[in-house]
Amino acid sequence: MLRSALIAASRSNGCRTVVERTPVLRPIVDRFIAGEGVDGAVRAAKVLAADRYVSLDHLGEDTLDRAQADATVDAYRAVLGKLDEAGLSARAEVSVKLSALGQALPVDGDRVALDNAWRICEAAAAAGTTVTVDMEDHTTTDSTLGIVRALRADFPSTGAVLQAYLHRTEADCAELSGPGSRIRLCKGAYDEPASVAYRQKSDVDAAYVRCLKILMAGEGYPMVATHDPRLIEITEDLVDRTGRSSDDFEFQMLYGIRPNEQTELARRARKMRVYVPYGGEWYPYFMRRLGERPANLAFFFRSFVSK
Ligand code: FDA
Repeated sequence: MLRSALIAASRSNGCRTVVERTPVLRPIVDRFIAGEGVDGAVRAAKVLAADRYVSLDHLGEDTLDRAQADATVDAYRAVLGKLDEAGLSARAEVSVKLSALGQALPVDGDRVALDNAWRICEAAAAAGTTVTVDMEDHTTTDSTLGIVRALRADFPSTGAVLQAYLHRTEADCAELSGPGSRIRLCKGAYDEPASVAYRQKSDVDAAYVRCLKILMAGEGYPMVATHDPRLIEITEDLVDRTGRSSDDFEFQMLYGIRPNEQTELARRARKMRVYVPYGGEWYPYFMRRLGERPANLAFFFRSFVSK
């Protein structure tokens, strides 16, 4: 219930104003966000790239403003140029939300988002790296997968995200596990209705395992995005059973979450990619992270009280 409340709060302008204007919360925000500017993001990428891989996410979502969507493309081109200059392209890619690129515009949203994502993929290819398209709430799944399919015609290494909590995802995994595909499997971060998604943690975890088995047995490149130790163990078991090498899949975690486990997996020669969000539009992402763990919330409320 708390998680649903936090996700609802992530869309509330009133809560946003309070959270953004409370300086005492800054240390909690900084745990999950690598600063507001591109230079801070590239600095964080450089540090992480010593033993891990990175996917940089320029924060922003749900824009209904064409100029804002264009500004997001410019921001991605700038960060891709900086990654290239810093010699990080082999270690760092970018993650992109289509709702930040105009997908929700009332007229021609899909076409605008595709054009904008195409320009980002073009800049990524020029920099020698790749793009993964994030997945948002279930009303956007068909559109997002359609756009990824179109992008892959010109940029075959474009990755997609599938969310294990959706009932449809086992079928999507089967369809998208062919040669050359890059699929990031996560549990799913939005508050979805029972008509489309599993809502109990145990059901989501079981669905994740079923999806993981399909991807690991497939011919694509699975990107196992979870902090859940049990799922990491199951992945290791599937690696042994399917004979995949360390180059045939990767683990992914979020910036600031289980960093010791991240370095431990890297030390065991596993490819470990960290998703690094940065930028001024951190509020909705931050609220989703808060809702995922009761301890985060307790820390958040204690910070308010001690203000
Ligand atoms: P679970 O939530 O069960 O957590 C397992 C353990 O991890 C917890 O017990 C705790 O120890 C730790 N943990 C997890 N979340 C934490 C937090 N916020 N703070 C502190 N500890 C935490 N979702 C989506 O809908 N679309 C997307 O495109 C993406 N993209 C994405 C990329 C990457 C690289 C990752 C790792 C995740 C996503 N997600 C996502 C988010 C994902 O759907 C999910 O919400 C979170 O990863 C949390 O789920 P876990 O699999 O970690 O399991």
